[in-house]
Amino acid sequence: MQTDKVEGDSMERASKVIARAGYCSRRKAEQYIKEGKVEVNGKIIDIGTKVNPNDLIRIDGSFLSKEEKEYILLYKPRGIVTTTSDDKNRKTVIDLVQSTNRIYPVGRLDYDTTGLLLLTNDGDLSHLLMHPKSCIDKTYIVKINGLFPPVMLKKICNGVVIDGRKTAKAHARVKKYDKKTNTSIVELTIHEGRNHQVKKMFNQLGYQVLKLKRETYSFLTLEGLSSGEYRHLTPKEIKKLYNEVYKK
Ligand code: URA
Repeated sequence: MQTDKVEGDSMERASKVIARAGYCSRRKAEQYIKEGKVEVNGKIIDIGTKVNPNDLIRIDGSFLSKEEKEYILLYKPRGIVTTTSDDKNRKTVIDLVQSTNRIYPVGRLDYDTTGLLLLTNDGDLSHLLMHPKSCIDKTYIVKINGLFPPVMLKKICNGVVIDGRKTAKAHARVKKYDKKTNTSIVELTIHEGRNHQVKKMFNQLGYQVLKLKRETYSFLTLEGLSSGEYRHLTPKEIKKLYNEVYKK
């Protein structure tokens, strides 16, 4: 174990190593360290401590295992919660995939939202993808009540105030009007990831979201998958995702 002052080729901050091993996010790891819950080779460490690959890390009593990284793209169905466990015993996104690793979702989709969700045990990538600076584009197909007029499209693209703060510029277009049912299908691309953001944006303009599906996440799409199915990302896609977050 070394401290910040001693640099070495394979030395990395303990919090980074813990996150990469899939134990928890880097922020959470830092919290554990601050709380004195992390030991390296039997000694409690502080926040700047760096470790090398042979160091034995123990968090809150359990040793850190070095899991292989796993990256899953899931087509989330409706009626599934985006958590690793649910206190109401509802089915979670983790129940839909077979993995021996401690994977967890990157961000969240609501219970009634369908579409593209990434799952991984790569804490570093997950943290970077969710960081506001990364500005990852996400495209949603939104069914709303009413015929969404051009003036509203302009408003939603320019940003609407939700939870006291204006949303960033977005792209939107109407894909379909259905005069019979008095509904519209709107395609909306946003790069923020605020809580219930899409629903709140439409609600703010006086519309109700009847159906919501995430079709793309950065360059990733649902192509080839049916609802409930998943696939692993290719090494090329993983590299591309890393490039997406590092270039920002
Ligand atoms: N915005 C929402 O309102 N809900 C989601 O599930 C995703 C984005």
